[in-house]
Order: sequence, then structure tokens, then C-alpha cells
Amino acid sequence: MRSCCFASILGIGLSMAAQAGEDIKVGVVLPYSGVYASLGADITDGMQLALDLYGSEIAGRKIVLITEDSEVKPNVGLTKTKKLVFQDKVDLLVGPVASNVAGAMRDFVHNAKMPLIIPNAGNNLLTGEKCSPWVIRTSFSNDQINRVMGPWLYEQGHRTLYLMAPDYAAGHQMMAAVRRGFTEAGGEVLGEEYPPLRETKDFAPYLAKVKAIRPDALYVFFAGGLAIQFVKQYHEFGLKAEIPLTGAGWLTSPLFLPAQGSAAAGFIGALNYVPTIDSDENREFQFAFNEKYKRIASEFTVQGFDTGRLIVEALKITGGETADKAAFVRAIHAVEFTGPRGPFRIDPLTNNVIQDIYIFETRQGGYNIRHVVIDKIADVQDPPNGCVM
Ligand code: BEZ
Repeated sequence: MRSCCFASILGIGLSMAAQAGEDIKVGVVLPYSGVYASLGADITDGMQLALDLYGSEIAGRKIVLITEDSEVKPNVGLTKTKKLVFQDKVDLLVGPVASNVAGAMRDFVHNAKMPLIIPNAGNNLLTGEKCSPWVIRTSFSNDQINRVMGPWLYEQGHRTLYLMAPDYAAGHQMMAAVRRGFTEAGGEVLGEEYPPLRETKDFAPYLAKVKAIRPDALYVFFAGGLAIQFVKQYHEFGLKAEIPLTGAGWLTSPLFLPAQGSAAAGFIGALNYVPTIDSDENREFQFAFNEKYKRIASEFTVQGFDTGRLIVEALKITGGETADKAAFVRAIHAVEFTGPRGPFRIDPLTNNVIQDIYIFETRQGGYNIRHVVIDKIADVQDPPNGCVM
């Protein structure tokens, strides 16, 4: 027993000594092609900005990002994850964007005891029933963003809803969250539609049903190319005046607004960040991002930025050591800061972020279209949802 432990302590000591001066390799699995390609690019740029601002070298070790394209495909995401771990021998992982890809990666990283920091994918299970000490989420859970909207919409006077989202884990989990809150408040869901994630090019058949059923409001989740297409067609159908458009706030992300234009006006959504948050931290962040990338930073950028900042601050605590993965995760739990979206910390009970959720309206003012915050729910924390670490 004694010789086993002495040997393993010596082993850790040697591997730490061997690490000094070596790069800290962060394996990044994000979509750089497919329906969520622009989200992957924004997250990567946000992470890079955080390294520029908070330090890209800790205790003589340079932090380098090794990026791989998940293509928004679960099997590709898993293959790229294994390549980063076995071939590139990364120290930690960041990714993915999509809930289905996160689901595919979960068992591998859990069994490999490899820290995975999720900068977007909201799959509830990964910080709920299938939580892991090695899986930490800096973005949101699908439930966390959407469950606040059910009671809120009921309070606004809506009594019936129709739901629409892509047919995969995130779509179903988000709609379940809003349905639960809305029906518990006394409302009724009149129907729901789940168009395919990758193949949907035309929403006309789905919108025709909404028009015929006439709910008090339509609640949707779409992001990427689907969000652009959906908003344009909703506008063309002339439905907005009769049936208010509400939903998960990614629909009118600053990433999609230039393509949507005035068609996006009037949407009411919930999200963990909008560019118009009135704080010094947000103004400084938007300024720094704009200086470097010449565009408005989105919620995806912020999630990448806060992920980068969390990694840097945790590495400062471990003195740049990454061999002891449990110590790295403990350091992550010790980091707290106020960033562009407000107070940020990781809940050690679930490894999901605790954060403010903003309810906003996308409003047109002259030639400008912007997100106007109309309500804020502070410090939204997920219940354990079956998570036992
Ligand atoms: C998801 O798949 O979890 C997701 C994708 C895009 C935006 C939000 C959530």
C-alpha cells in the first residue's frame, strides 16, 4: 500500500515537473461548419479575447487552443474529442454547441476523467441526471433559460401557446420547460411542431398550422441559419400583428440580426446576455471585442469569453498545473467574477452556471434594431435535477 502511494505521489510529482514550460493544450470541439457554424466562430473569438485580456501564459506555460469541427454531428463530435485526448494529449476540453453532440461526448469524458467545459450546449442531463465531476457548464441549461418564460407569459395575459423548435434534444427540453411553467400557471398549450434540425429550409407548412390554430402567442427556439429563415418567414406570413412571437432569446441574436433586419422587431425572448446590458463590465467588454473583431459581441461570444476567463483564473490558482484534474476542477469552483452578463459562478452541486436571466424585446428605433431589457430574474440556479456527483 505504502509503496503504491509513494510511487503514485512520485509519479504526479514527476509529471508536474515534466509539465513546466510545456504548452497548456485546450482541445476545442465546436461547429465550424453546418447550421451552427457562426456560433462556433463567436465562441472561439470570445475565448481568444479572454486569453488576450486575462493572460495566455500561466507560470511559464502558454495556453494554446487546438480546434476541431464537430459539424453539429454527434458521431463527429465524439471522434474529434477522442482525437484531441489520445493524439494531441490535451490538458482539458472545451465544447460543444449542440445538446445532441454534448450527449454523445459525455460518457467518454466522464470515463477518461477529462475536464470538459461546455460553452453552449444546454442539454439538461449533463448537469442533471447524467452530471459528472468532470463536466462543467459556463453557458446555461435548456431548462434554466426557458422555465422562467412560462409564468412570465401567463402574467402578461397570454392564456394559450403554440410551441415550435428543432427536432433534437435541445428543442424538446426547451419546449418542455416552457410548457411546464405555462400550464402550472393555468395556461394551455394548443399544439407543438418539431421541424428537422439540419434539413428544414421552409417553415411555411408549420406557419400555416399556427395561423389556423390562432394561439395567444407562439413560443419558439431556433438558432443559426434556422433563426434567420424562421424570422423572415414569420414576417412574410404577416402573423406578427395577430400572434406575438416569443421564445428562447437566441432567435434574434446580434449574430443573426443583420440578416433578419426589421423582420426581427417585436420578438420577446429570454436569455443570459444581451449586448445592451447597462454595466461598466459589459461596455468595456463590447468595446474590447469591437476593437479587435469589428462587430457586436453576441451571447455566444460572452460564453466563450467567460469560459476563457474561467480557465485562466483557475490555472492561476493551480499555478499552471493541469496534471491533477481534481485540483483543476476545485479551482474552477473557487472562481467568481462579475462579467459582461453579470455575476458568474459555477454551482458545485451540479457544475452548471448560476446567472441572471434577461427578458427583452427586440425593438426597431429608426434604422437601429436593438435588444431592450424589460425584466431580469437574478441568480437563476438549477435544482440538482437528479445530479449526484
Ligand atoms: C443546444 O443544442 O443546446 C443549443 C444550440 C444553440 C443554441 C442554444 C442551445
